[in-house]
Amino acid sequence: PIKAFTEQYRPQFHFTPKEKWMNDPNGLVYNDGIYHLFYQYYPDDIVWGPMHWGHAISTDMVHWEHKPIALYPDENGLIFSGSAVVDKNNSSGFGKDGEVPLVAIYTYHLMEGEKAGRSDFQTQGIAYSLDNGDTWTKYERNPVIGNDGIRDFRDPKVFWHEESQNWIMALVAGDHAKFYQSKNLKDWKYLSDFGRYQGAHGGVWECPDLFPLGVDGTDEQKWVLLISINPGAPNGGSGTQYFIGEFDGKKFTSDQKDPKWLDYGTDNYAGVTYNNVPNDDRIFIGWMSNWDYARDTPTKKWRSAMTLPRKLALQKHKDEYLLVNYPLPSVEALASSTMVENVTVAAGKSQTLEIDSLNQSKIRLKTASKDLKLIFKNNLDETLELTMDSKSKAFLLNRMNSGQVAFQPEFGNKKHHMPLDFLPDDRYEMDIYLDWSSIEVFIAQGLLVMTDQIFPTEPYNTLIVENNDQEDPVEILTVKHIMSIWQ
Ligand code: FRU
Repeated sequence: PIKAFTEQYRPQFHFTPKEKWMNDPNGLVYNDGIYHLFYQYYPDDIVWGPMHWGHAISTDMVHWEHKPIALYPDENGLIFSGSAVVDKNNSSGFGKDGEVPLVAIYTYHLMEGEKAGRSDFQTQGIAYSLDNGDTWTKYERNPVIGNDGIRDFRDPKVFWHEESQNWIMALVAGDHAKFYQSKNLKDWKYLSDFGRYQGAHGGVWECPDLFPLGVDGTDEQKWVLLISINPGAPNGGSGTQYFIGEFDGKKFTSDQKDPKWLDYGTDNYAGVTYNNVPNDDRIFIGWMSNWDYARDTPTKKWRSAMTLPRKLALQKHKDEYLLVNYPLPSVEALASSTMVENVTVAAGKSQTLEIDSLNQSKIRLKTASKDLKLIFKNNLDETLELTMDSKSKAFLLNRMNSGQVAFQPEFGNKKHHMPLDFLPDDRYEMDIYLDWSSIEVFIAQGLLVMTDQIFPTEPYNTLIVENNDQEDPVEILTVKHIMSIWQ
């Protein structure tokens, strides 16, 4: 059994590396009963450095087994973000005797090139594994896509496109996405560009993902393009926007002008979805940090965590397509003892609940109240506040006095703001997952989402629910303890 990790701030039900620096999730792929999680990893320090792909495996995307480093830098450069596919028909020829190769497609970042002031230092490479991810061999003719002078040219996401019988790659190039196709994962042909004049452009585009999704309750299907952007997110620094449109095998088109955001928190970045998941579920994992302060957060042995794994869905509200994200049932299954059940806070009333270890809990409310405050507090009077505010039609998260915040000026300098344009008029649910150093809020089953890191000096042990609505009660359905995944 794995020894429990209990250092200060160590997440108890989110993935973290045993030690050292981690950023983006990479190579998310399901193969032969196993969900792989590779990740941007620097094994020598707790700040960003020469990138490797770290590796972990799971059968439920909640309990993880740490594996040895999968990809090391080589003469072509450091190993930046990318994806992995199951090459079922051995189109690459990497399989020897009927073996089905796993193929990783990633960006090479050549430090020497960057230092020399060149702009062609990012190229795309591939590697394969014939033992379901345990050991990897780089393709001897890397890189497979060179660079003719694009400074930011990275983060390939590859998937099999059944209709055109091609592998398709989405890549980012500074302020737009580029699409390529291939028959064998080695020879790539450029197809098209998207996005120079659409969506948010406050920073560089990173970590694209392109996939189809059915619209809930209809026969309609749309294509979704995820684009991480840094900086330029709604509450500062790094964030993930998405576009809804069509993909015809060559070109992605969308009539969307304004950005839509997958998560309004400051700590869900570079997230992408799994390839090859049974029954086509679309499962997303993001990096739970922000480039504004990722290098400064107050942990010592390791740095940063992944978000909970979330299932994506498309819904239509008021003629708008919206991408919904909500934790998998395997997360819910971690809930053990119920600490609070069926407490009703009447209109205009407030209620104080003393609950030990709130920082390892799931809180579930149901209400139509549009004026509501939840205050998490510890013995040091550190507070984390969530507010539903009908006047500004916004949800606000205030971590300015939530614990350690001074390690970097951007971390605790403002409330985080989420517009409530699409909040249902009647009753809605709010699910809150609190871990030792994070909070994830899902309103209306993932229609409105906020993910933030927090660093309380001691765990919160008081929950104050202030219901400022004049009509509707707030029902606290449950507060449940969440089991540690490290036991
Ligand atoms: C996103 C990112 C990617 C890049 C990687 C480098 O956080 O900047 O664009 O591939 O991190 O670690």
